Amino acid sequence: MSASPHLPPELAVIVPTFNERDNVRALIAALDAALEGLAWEVIFVDDDSHDGTADLVRRIAQRDGRVRIVQRIGRRGLSSACVEGMLASSAPYLAVIDGDLQHDETRLPEMLRRLKEKNLDIVIGSRYVPGGGTGDWDESRLATSRFATRLSRLIVKSDLNDPMSGFFMLRRETLEAAMRRLSGIGFKILLDIFASSPRPLRFEEVPYTFRNRHAGESKLDTMVAWEYLMLLMDKLIGHIVPVRFVLFAMIGGLGVFVHLGVLGLVYRIFGASFEYGQATATLVAMTTNFILNNIFTYRDQRLRGRAFIRGLLSFYLACSLGAVANVGIGFYLFERDQSWWLSGLAGALAGAVLNYALTSVFTWGKPKPADRPKPAPER
Ligand code: GDD
Ligand code: MN
Repeated sequence: MSASPHLPPELAVIVPTFNERDNVRALIAALDAALEGLAWEVIFVDDDSHDGTADLVRRIAQRDGRVRIVQRIGRRGLSSACVEGMLASSAPYLAVIDGDLQHDETRLPEMLRRLKEKNLDIVIGSRYVPGGGTGDWDESRLATSRFATRLSRLIVKSDLNDPMSGFFMLRRETLEAAMRRLSGIGFKILLDIFASSPRPLRFEEVPYTFRNRHAGESKLDTMVAWEYLMLLMDKLIGHIVPVRFVLFAMIGGLGVFVHLGVLGLVYRIFGASFEYGQATATLVAMTTNFILNNIFTYRDQRLRGRAFIRGLLSFYLACSLGAVANVGIGFYLFERDQSWWLSGLAGALAGAVLNYALTSVFTWGKPKPADRPKPAPER
């Protein structure tokens, strides 16, 4: 270590991790080699991985002051992890890099040099400028990446070649100007920063070749596309109405069809009584609504295990209160000579808002650590 132990880091490298234990040592060694002569620190932001990533980082940090850990409990999300890692540092320069060694850490000194010498706001590690590459990606992943890039133009006007990149370095001031407007949704933190900055960012792209994963497996699944859509929606309409409420209301609308479907099945096909059919339909619709909201609306705070059951029960309760408000307000307006449909609509809207407000606080609000097995010992 060349810097004095009391010298503050000039560069903080933020590493979001979820189950990356077997990459931690290799990444720190690679950073140590690449950042020789610089005052740096690395901050792992781990979402309580069950493989013991955070414990391992902590153990290394007890012997190496450049290594730090932020452990988040009951939370998930690559973007929000990056933001919280950056906010946990006071370094004037901040980099974000994946924890699986797919990004080329040897480009970091060049990124820092450009950031300083060219007075840029942000420098991006890019796969799509001459000299860069995607390694051995198949055609379908390439096509998806191209399509996502085209969509990004909806929210970012800058001419970025690789807006999907998860590898970049910025000045602290760039973060500070954007941080209160960030969505923090999903995987695309770079896009979020560009879309949330009050003025166009001065940027350059540094080529790098996407490497193969060192150990472990990718966390990118089909839901990534969904989260990307949520980010786009939040940036487009989030200042008018919260995206979560839009999703919640859409799922509620879907619930009407579920309700009618089940009612039809039980009453018309199985020949049960109407009350029985209606009660069953209500229960099924509430349950499917809860499950869908848990998957789509609150993916970042998804409830599992015991928390799932607790959440479901509180969801039932909130729905009952929502129904009381719905009927009460609808009836109140109807009594005062409003048209039947306006009274009905106002009641339904009030019920939905109350449902949303209650469940956002009582069902998904308080993150609770999920029950899970003890991590295996470090390899
Ligand atoms: N804290 C936290 N929370 N970290 C996460 C989470 C999460 O919910 N999900 C993923 N990560 C961490 C992983 O552990 C890894 O270190 C990094 O984020 C990237 O995840 P991967 O699963 O390896 O993603 P990828 O390789 O398919 O895609 C990456 O590279 C692309 C190209 O730069 C991501 O960075 C993409 O956003 C990027 O487009
Ligand atoms: Mn990866």
